Amino acid sequence: MFIEKVSGEDQIEIIVDLAHEIWNEHFIAIIGKAQVDYMLERFQSKKAIVEQIGNGFLYYLIKSNDDYIGYMAVLPKENKLFLSKLYIASAERGKGYGREAIDFLEKLAFEKGLKIISLTVNKNNSATIEMYKKLGFETQGSIVQNIGNGFEMDDYKMQKNV
Ligand SMILES: CC(C)(COP(=O)(O)OP(=O)(O)OC[C@H]1O[C@@H](n2cnc3c(N)ncnc32)[C@H](O)[C@@H]1OP(=O)(O)O)[C@@H](O)C(=O)NCCC(=O)NCCS
Repeated sequence: MFIEKVSGEDQIEIIVDLAHEIWNEHFIAIIGKAQVDYMLERFQSKKAIVEQIGNGFLYYLIKSNDDYIGYMAVLPKENKLFLSKLYIASAERGKGYGREAIDFLEKLAFEKGLKIISLTVNKNNSATIEMYKKLGFETQGSIVQNIGNGFEMDDYKMQKNV
């Protein structure tokens, strides 16, 4: 597995495509199609990703055997590395890529002198919550965020000390 830091337009376009594929496959059952469409446009369009990178988000593409199979995004914030996105294409799940991605982020946090990786995860995203627990994350309460157009994100907050 290779991890590529994202800076160019071509890479961002690959992320937009992966986001469409993975969000439509995984999140319609959890939040519905209307919210998936809205969130893709609001948070994972090319324009939105360029803006996020301009605001300090670090995006990474995950590659295996010359194929892009997933991506992640983090934001260093105060003493924490906030894990904003981690998505692996469905055919590639359960092969250890998620664990390798978290290992990479732990090293990144360490290099930046950050002691905690934090994240939010939808309360109904059960398999992913189990995965985070398996990798040492603990639940730290919950958070509801209004994201506009009548939609909200109803998440658990989780974190891991690194
Ligand atoms: C969550 C996700 C990134 C994990 O990636 P992955 O490549 O499938 O994860 P791995 O194969 O590396 O598994 C990591 C560990 O979690 C465990 N695990 C995975 N799913 C699990 C489950 N449902 N229950 C218990 N443990 C689980 C694995 O056994 C593995 O532990 P091990 O290394 O000790 O065997 C991936 O499944 C995904 O993209 N899911 C859909 C999108 C999503 O929900 N993203 C996160 C949004 S917050």
